[in-house]
Amino acid sequence: MAHLQQLLLMSFLFFFYLSPATSMTQDAGILLHTKNALLEDPAGHLDDWIPTGDHAPCNWTGITCDSLTLAVTSINLTGFDISGEFPAAFCRIPTLLNLSLSNNMLNGSTSSQGISLCSRLHFLDLSLNLFVGGLPEFVPEFANLRWLDLSQNNFSGEIPASFGRFPKLQVLCLFANLLNGTIPAFLTNLTELIRFELAYNPFTPGPLPSEIGDLTKLENLWLPFSSLIGEIPGSVGKLTKLKNLDLSNNNLSGKIPYSIGGLMSVKQIELFCNRISGELPESLRNLKSLLKFDVSQNNLTGKMPEGLAGLHLISLGLNDNQLEGEIPEILSSNSKLVEFKVFNNSFSGNLPGELGRNSSLEEFDVSGNSFSGELPPYLCYRKKLQRLVAFNNRFSGNLPEYYGECDTLTYVRIFNNEISGEVPVQLWSFPRLSLLELKNNRLEGSIPPAISGARNLSQLLISGNYFSGKFPVEICRLKELAVIDASSNRFSGELPACINEMKRLEKLDLQQNMLSGEIPNRVSSWTHLTELNLSGNRLSGQIPRDLGNLPVLTYLDLSGNSFSGEIPTELTNLKLNKFNLSGNNLAGKVPPGFDNGFYVSGLIGNPNLCSPNLKPFHPCPKTKTTSWFLIAVFLSLILLLSVSLFWFYKMKAKAVGGKSKPPWKLTSFHRVGFNEDDIFTSLTDDNLIGTGGSGKVYRAKLKSGQTVAVKRLWGYNGKQPETEGDFLSEVDTLGRIRHGNIVKLFFSCIGEDFRILVYEYLENGSLGDVLHGEKGGVLLDWRKRFTIAVGAAQGLAYLHHDCVPTIVHRDVKSNNILLDGDFNPRVADFGLAKTLQKDVSRGEGESVMSRVAGSYGYIAPEYGYTMRVTEKSDVYSFGVVLMELVTGKRPNDSAFGENKDIVKWVTDEVLASEELRDNGGCSGTNLHHLIDEKMNPSSGDYQEIEKALNVAILCTSAFPMNRPSMRRVVELLKDQRDVSPPAMARAK
Ligand SMILES: *[C@@H]1O[C@H](CO)[C@@H](O)[C@H](O)[C@H]1NC(C)=O
Ligand SMILES: *[C@@H]1O[C@H](CO)[C@@H](O)[C@H](O)[C@H]1NC(C)=O
Repeated sequence: MAHLQQLLLMSFLFFFYLSPATSMTQDAGILLHTKNALLEDPAGHLDDWIPTGDHAPCNWTGITCDSLTLAVTSINLTGFDISGEFPAAFCRIPTLLNLSLSNNMLNGSTSSQGISLCSRLHFLDLSLNLFVGGLPEFVPEFANLRWLDLSQNNFSGEIPASFGRFPKLQVLCLFANLLNGTIPAFLTNLTELIRFELAYNPFTPGPLPSEIGDLTKLENLWLPFSSLIGEIPGSVGKLTKLKNLDLSNNNLSGKIPYSIGGLMSVKQIELFCNRISGELPESLRNLKSLLKFDVSQNNLTGKMPEGLAGLHLISLGLNDNQLEGEIPEILSSNSKLVEFKVFNNSFSGNLPGELGRNSSLEEFDVSGNSFSGELPPYLCYRKKLQRLVAFNNRFSGNLPEYYGECDTLTYVRIFNNEISGEVPVQLWSFPRLSLLELKNNRLEGSIPPAISGARNLSQLLISGNYFSGKFPVEICRLKELAVIDASSNRFSGELPACINEMKRLEKLDLQQNMLSGEIPNRVSSWTHLTELNLSGNRLSGQIPRDLGNLPVLTYLDLSGNSFSGEIPTELTNLKLNKFNLSGNNLAGKVPPGFDNGFYVSGLIGNPNLCSPNLKPFHPCPKTKTTSWFLIAVFLSLILLLSVSLFWFYKMKAKAVGGKSKPPWKLTSFHRVGFNEDDIFTSLTDDNLIGTGGSGKVYRAKLKSGQTVAVKRLWGYNGKQPETEGDFLSEVDTLGRIRHGNIVKLFFSCIGEDFRILVYEYLENGSLGDVLHGEKGGVLLDWRKRFTIAVGAAQGLAYLHHDCVPTIVHRDVKSNNILLDGDFNPRVADFGLAKTLQKDVSRGEGESVMSRVAGSYGYIAPEYGYTMRVTEKSDVYSFGVVLMELVTGKRPNDSAFGENKDIVKWVTDEVLASEELRDNGGCSGTNLHHLIDEKMNPSSGDYQEIEKALNVAILCTSAFPMNRPSMRRVVELLKDQRDVSPPAMARAK
């Protein structure tokens, strides 16, 4: 092959030499030949490379010529979707200085031989391709190379010795590859270097070369995730031009060297996630241009040096007095610190009081230390602070008055401290604030009406303080508010009546206060409420019946109040994990649904409750003896009713079947505006929309205008067929469930020779069809796919965690996830679902099955040989669906090759770049080929897609124990966009 190419090239060159050739035609020949021999250009970017024309090749796409000699000097094919091998032959153009092939799909290895053609280059950029194998040796000497970017490929192995011999190299980018040697000391010979970027490689652990200080022209030293061990060499301080020092996410230990104060130009110091210990050196005060400082997640100790706060002040010998009023020009131009993060260390003592006074702080995170004293008063002096994070310390004193003027705040977390006094009124009201977490301090005062200004507040977490007074009605105006936790305070008075209008509310925890009055009556707007805890107050009146109709309420604690009246039977509709009405004045009969030992502890302490069979309660008094007359009337009425019913059914059966049919049994699970007759008439072939393993599915448009889906099960000809079990399981399971991501079963109808199930109709059919059908998933962009993933996960989490007993679906697959008109998902088809009775002694529910059930490609490996199912088998199947969503491929696509399914394929591909991507820090470019092109992701989507892939891999772990619970899956998926809960906030 190579010979043939050589030969072709020779003949080409020969041809051009024979003609009255200019360098232009020679260059054109080389370009064309190389392109044709080695490159594929499916997008046709290079279609204008045509050898005719006066300006060829100088006006060809991607080509630049010298303006005088018209010789080609630059080839820039960045981002043209070109594939093929490394086109070294381009370098045969003797005048070529710049070869940029970044962001294509070039693959194969780059041989040293090929590269040696390019030794005249000044600029070589092969980043963002698919090159594999070892890095090539750059010989003979590349005397003029200034820029070498091989980043974001799959290069592996050691860095060759020739990389230490580029006399003019200024830029060396090798980041995000699979290099696994150590970082060699000879790289410090490259004394012209400005950028040294080797991050995100699975290097063998080794130190940062101690001669690193020799690279005195360096501006960017970028080495996160580079397996660095040992101490930061003192020579670092010689890098007076350095702007960015990023050694985060390594295993560095020892102290930060005092010499760091020599970094005169540094703007950013990122040392987080190491094992650095000792105190911060005083010399940090010399860093006058520092913008970002992050030493979080280390073992640092001691006090914060004053110098850090006064940063510029002290070095200029100014004192406080001179700073009152206007900030002198020279200082404000010098005041740069915007990010200050020292969380999760062991710092102690006071924070310097001047912190923030001289610079426009935006982010401040000192959480997880042992700081004491007051919070620095001037953090928001320049009105720029967005994140104020100081939880888990021992701060005391009042919240500084200045914080009341900081309307830029979005995120305030100062819980678990000893802060006292009142919260500045305006702090409750900032329009951009989304999280206000003040839990477990000694704060007092009341929530002011001004809170209505906090339009974006989604979590108000103020439990464990001494707050008092009424809840202001203005709180109802906060349309985004989802979580209110004001428990263990001294709130009193009535709940604002409008609280029942808060549509977003997910959790309302007001336990252990002194609230009185009643729960507002109509609470049907609380469609997102999962947790209601009003225990330990002085609330009275009746428990609203509406509560029983809330779709997702799973935690209900009203204990220790003065509620009276009967327990509304509606409450038995709820699927509760927590049920506590104890210690009230409830009276009357315990509703049948709660008539069960399981609920006793939630009912006791209500002396007037009665129950015929629950032990601790006295039996209910017999109803008064009814007069014989009434009984007689009643009996005759029943007789009359039965007779007419019999006739009614008989007539109807005639009308439907033409011949007489036996009556059927109808069970309705929702209030519906139609009856079985409407259904029967629509079971015609015209309405058939699907035929499956267990029966036919019809679409029925009803007189009311409503459309429903009707499933008619196979094979009822007088005997019970195999599908009977599926039918009963479906009715049994689905009939009990209400959740926005689970398909609604309206009713079932059992006749002697037929079984019918009526569901809500979902316009877009199954995910499997949309994804793999004719349209091939183009309808589904990443946003939709993500919504589907989260919704389906929520549905499954509900089955696993909120249903008692737990339900395992056992047949999770894309064909069993249905999509409504807006592509919101519903989990469907409960034919195989099982309920698991928890065996408490073993701690986990599991059930042994008699036959393998589920669908090929989605079945968890353990299931095949143990026949035991747990919730974790569903988690596996869900992981497969998630992979389907990201890759657009079926679980058993033939492209995966023999013995490979989607799980193996995705896992292998991702494993290859695993280390690089820890903590979501890497852009994941190596995974592009996994992603379904049809969803056309925007650049902002990639991080989320990558996270979804990671979740999918977790879900499909071979060992069930290693798979996350569905509830955790929901959290993992959602964490990417919502307010970061602690775990994610810590992990950058
Ligand atoms: C290059 O110049 C020739 C004329 O010499 C013209 O025909 C051709 O369209 C030009 N190509 C481009 C890409 O401008
Ligand atoms: C190559 O082209 C891309 C896109 O057109 C441009 O961003 C880049 O700066 C160019 N590179 C060089 C070295 O000219």
